[in-house]
Amino acid sequence: MTVLVTGARGAVGSAVRSGLLAAGVDVRAAGRDPSVLPDDGSARVALDLDDPSSYGPALDGVDRVFVYVAEDLRPFARAMADAGVRHAVLLSSESVLTEPEPEPGGIAAHHADAETALRGAGITTTALRPGAFAGNTGQWSRGIAAGFVELPFPRSATTPIDERDIGDVAVAALLADPVDESVHVTGPESLTMAEQVAQVAERLGRPIEVRAVDPDVAREQMARFVPSAVVDSLFRYWRDTDGVPAPVTDEVARRTGHPARTYRQWLTEVFTGA
Ligand SMILES: NC(=O)c1ccc[n+]([C@@H]2O[C@H](COP(=O)([O-])OP(=O)(O)OC[C@H]3O[C@@H](n4cnc5c(N)ncnc54)[C@H](OP(=O)(O)O)[C@@H]3O)[C@@H](O)[C@H]2O)c1
Repeated sequence: MTVLVTGARGAVGSAVRSGLLAAGVDVRAAGRDPSVLPDDGSARVALDLDDPSSYGPALDGVDRVFVYVAEDLRPFARAMADAGVRHAVLLSSESVLTEPEPEPGGIAAHHADAETALRGAGITTTALRPGAFAGNTGQWSRGIAAGFVELPFPRSATTPIDERDIGDVAVAALLADPVDESVHVTGPESLTMAEQVAQVAERLGRPIEVRAVDPDVAREQMARFVPSAVVDSLFRYWRDTDGVPAPVTDEVARRTGHPARTYRQWLTEVFTGA
């Protein structure tokens, strides 16, 4: 079996790539610039999901595909179907669940459209719908270095999931008989953003203050760099989850046979690399 891994150097994509290699699968690792992909035994191929001219060589002889969402996934989905691919595992998002009637252009619409594109092309699709990634901690790196993190909704709760766990769930799905399903994958515990920052401080052994900032001010700042529909999605989500514990699922443990890694574990093993 040959599996094409799109975004093979991404946080989740690299976990999928290494998990499949460890399972002895023939991996075709894809990136827009394949020369920057690690030389780890996978075949490296150029693929830009927004450039149909790159699809042919990437998909030739492929049985299954791990897919990141793209601007418009429909052309790639059709190419997959034409190439005989019958099973895809899509890195979708929990936002599809939390926003069942998505605002156009927002995060939920983007991921819902990708799920529809694959299924519309007749491809059996495992849509992984994770909530917030542990790696989102990187967005606080300047604040962490400065000793204070500014948050519009410090009590907004998520279930930070280790990207390696999403990779493990994807690998299990890619190796199993194809099933059309949507899977809500979460980390093992609900944590507020302030609690996450407190764990970062504990790990680094120095205080990091959480400063609550006016949501309108934070929104205006973010809108300078991020499309407004995406800003709307994020602020809607943070407001709706403010002080509300996030639901935890057992999908990681059930599908991989190991418990979901904690945020503390991620901080130790990935963030500080200890
Ligand atoms: N962060 C969250 O809390 C969260 C929550 C739910 C879902 N998600 C989903 O997870 C994604 C992020 O996953 P991640 O952290 O693993 O991402 P990442 O580390 O930023 O990597 C993204 C990968 O996508 C590839 N990519 C981007 N545009 C591409 C294109 N046009 N054609 C082909 N490949 C392309 C990149 O490949 P090259 O640069 O090598 O070409 C890269 O390897 C989000 O975009 C979202 O869909 C995130």
